[in-house]
Amino acid sequence: MSAAGNASPVPASDVAVRVWTMITAGLDEDAVTPWAAVLDAAERARAARFVFAHSRITFIAAHALARAALAEAAGASPGAFSFAAGAHGKPEAQLDGRPAGLAFNLSHTKGLVGVAVAAIPGLPLGFDLEPIDRRAPMEVARRYFTASEIAWLDRLPETARAEGFFRLWTLKEAFIKATGKGLTQDLSSFWFRVDPPEIRFAPELPERPQDWGFAQRIVHRGFLAAIGLRGQGAGIDATWCELDPAGFDPAAGLDW
Ligand SMILES: CC(C)(COP(=O)(O)OP(=O)(O)OC[C@H]1O[C@@H](n2cnc3c(N)ncnc32)[C@H](O)[C@@H]1OP(=O)(O)O)[C@@H](O)C(=O)NCCC(=O)NCCS
Repeated sequence: MSAAGNASPVPASDVAVRVWTMITAGLDEDAVTPWAAVLDAAERARAARFVFAHSRITFIAAHALARAALAEAAGASPGAFSFAAGAHGKPEAQLDGRPAGLAFNLSHTKGLVGVAVAAIPGLPLGFDLEPIDRRAPMEVARRYFTASEIAWLDRLPETARAEGFFRLWTLKEAFIKATGKGLTQDLSSFWFRVDPPEIRFAPELPERPQDWGFAQRIVHRGFLAAIGLRGQGAGIDATWCELDPAGFDPAAGLDW
């Protein structure tokens, strides 16, 4: 049994992961209000608690997109899902009060929301998005990254450092979101090589690199996206779909 709590890893090369991303920059409350119709009462209550409109807009967009992606994968309606939180808050999708048989993970960042979905029940799947049009916060790297990751970043030319930082950051987030442990996971117990993405574990973490697959790409020209999943073999069969919010209607289904 691994730290992730799954008896045997699924073959990652057989795992089809669909990733949907959608720009939210420029959206206003009027644009997202109709999308909120697919959310449940708990989500609408969470949305209402945000003080800032941009946070509310992002939340509604992310959750409507996640529901539309789950609906597309399950052949159900977006409003049919409910969500149960795991030990550290990772949501699991349910239909009629039972696990929906889908793995998913959503991410929201300034200007973009996204979700990764795989039709494998219980698959540890993590997904993260970050904008890259900013300086690399090297003080954060020096605090949270391992010595080999910091050395790799230091060797990069200045012009490549921000992208390098966010490559590492999104991969690390994809891992801690896949396990569901979030920041309760010791960040010094694993590290990455970036190209191609590969994970390594400290001896105290009972995981094997060959059980983990990662994929990463730049989406919408200015954001890094990373997927991580626990499955045998390194490959992920990922389909990346960049959506235009102007044509998005969660109730109408997703075209790709
Ligand atoms: C939840 C967490 C794992 C990711 O948060 P984040 O990167 O700030 O936010 P994201 O938008 O990518 O992901 C948030 C979504 O992940 C899901 N989520 C919540 N808890 C989760 C968990 N334990 N594991 C996986 N997914 C989780 C939820 O759907 C959440 O969205 P919601 O609150 O609207 O439902 C958080 O614990 C975290 O890591 N926060 C700080 C970031 C950081 O310092 N990272 C260090 C990396 S080196």
